[in-house]
Amino acid sequence: MFASKLLLCSALLMLNGAVLSQTLIGLPNFKTPETTSEQPSTNSTTASTSTSTTSTTTEKPITTSSTSTIPPTTPTTSTEPPKTTTTPAPVPTTTHAPQPYPAPSVGTWNASCIMLQMAAQLNFTYEDKNGNLTHGLYNIPSNATVEDKECDRPTIQNVHLIWGPNTSKQSLLMYFDKKNDTTVLSSIQIHLTLLAEDFPDAKENQTLQLIHRSDGEFKTPEKMSYHCTRVQKMNLTETIDAKQLIGWISVSQVQVEAFRSTNATGFSTVHDCDSSETSDVVPIAVGIALAALILVVLISYLCARRRSTSRGYMSF
Ligand SMILES: *[C@@H]1O[C@H](CO)[C@@H](O)[C@H](O)[C@H]1NC(C)=O
Ligand SMILES: *[C@@H]1O[C@H](CO)[C@@H](O)[C@H](O)[C@H]1NC(C)=O
Ligand SMILES: *[C@@H]1O[C@H](CO)[C@@H](O)[C@H](O)[C@H]1NC(C)=O
Ligand SMILES: *[C@@H]1O[C@H](CO)[C@@H](O)[C@H](O)[C@H]1NC(C)=O
Ligand SMILES: *[C@@H]1O[C@H](CO)[C@@H](O)[C@H](O)[C@H]1NC(C)=O
Ligand SMILES: *[C@@H]1O[C@H](CO)[C@@H](O)[C@H](O)[C@H]1NC(C)=O
Ligand SMILES: *[C@@H]1O[C@H](CO)[C@@H](O)[C@H](O)[C@H]1NC(C)=O
Ligand SMILES: *[C@@H]1O[C@H](CO)[C@@H](O)[C@H](O)[C@H]1NC(C)=O
Ligand SMILES: *[C@@H]1O[C@H](CO)[C@@H](O)[C@H](O)[C@H]1NC(C)=O
Ligand SMILES: *[C@@H]1O[C@H](CO)[C@@H](O)[C@H](O)[C@H]1NC(C)=O
Repeated sequence: MFASKLLLCSALLMLNGAVLSQTLIGLPNFKTPETTSEQPSTNSTTASTSTSTTSTTTEKPITTSSTSTIPPTTPTTSTEPPKTTTTPAPVPTTTHAPQPYPAPSVGTWNASCIMLQMAAQLNFTYEDKNGNLTHGLYNIPSNATVEDKECDRPTIQNVHLIWGPNTSKQSLLMYFDKKNDTTVLSSIQIHLTLLAEDFPDAKENQTLQLIHRSDGEFKTPEKMSYHCTRVQKMNLTETIDAKQLIGWISVSQVQVEAFRSTNATGFSTVHDCDSSETSDVVPIAVGIALAALILVVLISYLCARRRSTSRGYMSF
């Protein structure tokens, strides 16, 4: 009779052990979908890069279409096309390629409600003297100055940086939104005048507007500063609604905080772009393991108690 009870108890324990082992197996299983779900994400990133390459291939027809639209704008030089075909065409591209453009340097800007630190480089399409579209690189100077800011509104703030000679000021505007106690980048707007010293082959007096409409970049909880060391590439269009990409802005070593309180000094607690992604999975896994452990201890305790009480009866 007691022996059968003991058997039942040990069977229960074994069953529990099986459950635990299943949960333990389930844990890696729970993690393996994570890694396998990462696989498609890398697949999707390769897919996105392939789409970006397709976008560059779609850019190609546009360059041809724009070059086809450019001759009508310069119809006076109808003798030019044969002239340019006789002159070696790849020469401008070979003069472009060997120049290694320097990496951007990190700038820090304080606009009281917004503190910003980053290194930023633009890669964009512009028109050269022949009317061809070509790629240019440009670093946002780290000695750009804060010209203006909008700090009074409760849900939208911006910082306005300017640089360059007085006669042709260049500018970068960054807008931030606050919703649900979360701060997020809403857009970047850049006005760039292509100066002859920077772009000697550019068509004269060319001014570009480069806009990035954010998809939730720089997202961070309120009263924390967003931090990201790696390079983040954000697409640029000429207008906010344009479908046609005209370039990229690559930002790195970013630390930014908007909606700062007036008394704040320095950056608030860091919210890192990479640590935030994994921090969700680990606590869940630990929690499940802990719950399983508690269950095991409880059941074995109950079993042990039952056994000891039955032994107590036996000794009497
Ligand atoms: C992942 O990419 C490979 C080729 O790179 C492709 O064969 C495979 O079907 C893709 N898998 C998914 C789930 O898209
Ligand atoms: C520039 O455009 C002309 C025609 O307008 C073309 O013949 C020439 O090859 C182009 N040059 C480059 C570098 O693409
Ligand atoms: C700039 O963009 C063009 C086209 O997207 C690309 O071919 C080129 O490699 C880029 N340059 C850099 C330095 O990223
Ligand atoms: C910023 O630095 C550049 C050289 O990198 C220099 O030519 C320019 O005068 C500087 N501007 C200011 C406002 O210091
Ligand atoms: C540019 O403007 C600033 C003030 O806005 C002035 O101090 C500086 O002398 C000006 N520089 C030139 C070259 O005009
Ligand atoms: C704010 O959060 C609530 C739930 O927490 C959600 O329903 C709502 O859509 C969020 N609003 C925005 C603008 O994200
Ligand atoms: C470029 O601008 C300068 C001064 O604003 C002007 O003198 C020149 O004629 C302009 N060039 C063209 C091609 O419009
Ligand atoms: C630019 O990137 C955003 C996401 O950041 C995306 O929603 C948008 O479609 C992209 N624009 C173009 C023209 O590819
Ligand atoms: C900022 O400091 C002032 C006094 O210097 C204080 O009255 C105020 O409450 C402070 N604000 C915050 C948000 O800490
Ligand atoms: C930023 O500028 C404000 C004044 O505009 C100043 O009170 C604050 O100390 C500055 N913060 C830092 C970190 O330089």
